[in-house]
Amino acid sequence: MMQKGLLIGALLLLTHLATSAINVIPYPNKLITKEGSYSIHESPTIFYSAKSATSADYLKQALFSEAKLKSVKKMPKRKSGIFLELLAPDAEGNTESYQLNVSKAFIHISATSNTGLFYGIQTLRQLIKEGEIPCVEIEDAPRFPWRAYMLDVSRHFRTKKFVKQMLDEMALLKMNVFHWHLTDDQGWRIEIKKYPKLTEVGAWRADSQTGGWNSDTYSGEPHGGFYTQADIKEIIAYATKRHITVIPEIDMPGHARSAIASYPWLGVTKEAVDMPVRFGKVGQDVYDVADPRVFEFLQDVLDEVMALFPSEIIHIGGDEIDYEQWKNAASIQKLMKEEDLATPADVQIYFTNKISNYLDSKGRRMMGWNEIMGKNIHEWQDKEDMEVSSSLAANAVVHFWKGDLKLVTEAATQGYSIVNSIHTETYLDYGYKSIPLSRSYAYNPIPEGLDTKHHDKIKGLGCQNWSEWTPTEERVEEQTFPRIAAYAEVGWTDLKNKNFERFSRNLEDYKTRWEKLSIHYSRNYEPKK
Ligand code: ACM
Repeated sequence: MMQKGLLIGALLLLTHLATSAINVIPYPNKLITKEGSYSIHESPTIFYSAKSATSADYLKQALFSEAKLKSVKKMPKRKSGIFLELLAPDAEGNTESYQLNVSKAFIHISATSNTGLFYGIQTLRQLIKEGEIPCVEIEDAPRFPWRAYMLDVSRHFRTKKFVKQMLDEMALLKMNVFHWHLTDDQGWRIEIKKYPKLTEVGAWRADSQTGGWNSDTYSGEPHGGFYTQADIKEIIAYATKRHITVIPEIDMPGHARSAIASYPWLGVTKEAVDMPVRFGKVGQDVYDVADPRVFEFLQDVLDEVMALFPSEIIHIGGDEIDYEQWKNAASIQKLMKEEDLATPADVQIYFTNKISNYLDSKGRRMMGWNEIMGKNIHEWQDKEDMEVSSSLAANAVVHFWKGDLKLVTEAATQGYSIVNSIHTETYLDYGYKSIPLSRSYAYNPIPEGLDTKHHDKIKGLGCQNWSEWTPTEERVEEQTFPRIAAYAEVGWTDLKNKNFERFSRNLEDYKTRWEKLSIHYSRNYEPKK
């Protein structure tokens, strides 16, 4: 009995060691562990071709800074070292997959693109423990092509340094979309050369509400900031090196107060408004979409945005439009008659389709929150305002944040690509009581009950850091970390390979990393309800 107990104990320990050695987040999809390890105490030679030189440079830097190697030798004749191999494109056009083979003598990363090599390197970075890398064979590819983190820099501005650190953390987690929420009622954060007041006026406010939606407390301090076009280029270049696409969000036709405060003629009433200091209640100020000058303005803004951002997709927000101003405006009533638009929701679709067609004509593609479909998802909207007879342009990407299975099914049936950021599961501004880490981890972007024929319409997920109540970097970090790691694994790891206990164990290394980098993470991520 005694011996058997010991044996089982030893086996359990061995299994634990074998699995705990592969402490990678997001967890690879195919993995075989082997005996032994590759020792990286000595500087390894890196073998690469000209086409993978950028990946080799990145790997060298990672080894210097993380494995503390003094130099990486280039010794082409040696039989040992790290091999980076670019393979011919595969039939499926897979660009994110990679293979990583670690043996005692060498490390071999192969992929059909530098993105794949980059992800192989991210896995490798996490496998290095005190100069040893366990021998493994990994064949890995993401479950979803869209794995996003959204930062709202409108409600509270964040420095370039902070944004870059977020991009570094996303890269290690193999997240590939940085969704940059650049404009909203409380702040316009992107320099637009043709309209300088957007940042002279719209990037600054006198004060900021604190303490929650209904509170009457304020920070007592002015707040503001914006990114110059040079700053934006710098961030995009930084992200591109990390194989992250930056998707700008320029919110329209609602959430437009900062623009209207800058140029009152953009608004329906044409009256001057100040920069809001409160966050609560959806802003009432919407663009006057019946005014040709307003459409010209938005085209000009989008032109400058497209010149900066190489991403195919441009996010135009489109959420939470208060129709009151439109309902009371002669200009909009006239437009409705002329264009045969029955309801304010029809007006929104008419406007959104004009923007979508404009972006299409420039070789881009529009994305918007799911209000762009014109469906009623808000309790505060009048039902009769929401009857729609028109439909959204076919090429649009629908970003779900509110709604149900019926709406997702409708969008999928109509052929739209969908990113699922349903708020109850993915909003990082929500407290850990409503979204504990385990709930983030359990999230499935494919809604339960969605017909399998629609599954390929779900391109992935975003997790969103709305920043009304996170005025400091520390607060943003506490809301983001560690949940971002869970969303990364949701986006990457196949359902059958997910395991919350393993994930929680593997998180320990990340915590150590975050502590070293002075990144604040919540320690109370699994609170009792
Ligand atoms: C949103 O949360 N208004 C998209």
